[in-house]
Amino acid sequence: MKLLHSITELREARARIAPGTSVGFVPTMGYLHEGHLSLVAASKAACELTFVSIYVNPSQFGPNEDLASYPRDLERDLELLSTYGVDYVFFPSTEEIYPEGYKTWVEVSGISQRLCGASRPGHFRGVATIVLKLVNLVQPHSMFMGSKDFQQVLVLKTMLRDLNLQVNLVSCPIIREADGLAMSSRNSYLDSQQHQRALCLSSAIKAVQAAFRAGQRSVPALLEIAGETIGDRGRIDYLELVDPERLEPVTTVDDMSRLIMAVYIDKVRLIDNAALGEQL
Ligand code: PAF
Repeated sequence: MKLLHSITELREARARIAPGTSVGFVPTMGYLHEGHLSLVAASKAACELTFVSIYVNPSQFGPNEDLASYPRDLERDLELLSTYGVDYVFFPSTEEIYPEGYKTWVEVSGISQRLCGASRPGHFRGVATIVLKLVNLVQPHSMFMGSKDFQQVLVLKTMLRDLNLQVNLVSCPIIREADGLAMSSRNSYLDSQQHQRALCLSSAIKAVQAAFRAGQRSVPALLEIAGETIGDRGRIDYLELVDPERLEPVTTVDDMSRLIMAVYIDKVRLIDNAALGEQL
């Protein structure tokens, strides 16, 4: 596994890859868990070479968010990636990514403004900018991302399409703990009592899916079931039933309609989503 600290090292490594070799890319902010490793496995299964980036991107965090406390363990991440047979790991410094005088930002309008974008202004501008920079450097054929960040995937698909980038974004299934909690680096903030309360997100999804299977088609009734299931275990940031392409609220539901939510467990903000027709 080759460790690449600088953009120069990354460019040199990329230039040495024979034309026609399929390259997969998994962008991450590190503190890897089984969700990330499932993306690595998907890349390795589909592509001849796999790049992973580890970079906690400051521009996607708001001023009062958890940039400083975001969990980091580079040594452990590198060990895991090496065990998984990753070919290249890029872990740049912020001076390398946003040098003095940095001025350029990528804005995907519309879809970036709703849901997480409304609660975290500027978040998707930061995500789109860093992912465009990374894609430009790695030049992958395919990029693998988790669908826990369902809105992020749609924002980035829109960006890739609009900027004519020939990168296939593969959205991979959410990986969950045995108890249903969607895996996230931020789960490490939860103590065991908070972890128990955090199960309200997946429980809400299960309850709504069960009601949908039993014939409930009323959007207010389905949202009420979700809200009641969350109850006082968490504080809802948003909870919506949306269409899976534009993430606009729906008035009639089908199998593909998505329950999507962000819920605070004390100060920890967790997200989750699923289609009504799925079964957790
Ligand atoms: O999903 C993440 O971990 C981040 O938003 C990403 C895509 C690595 C960009 O910093």
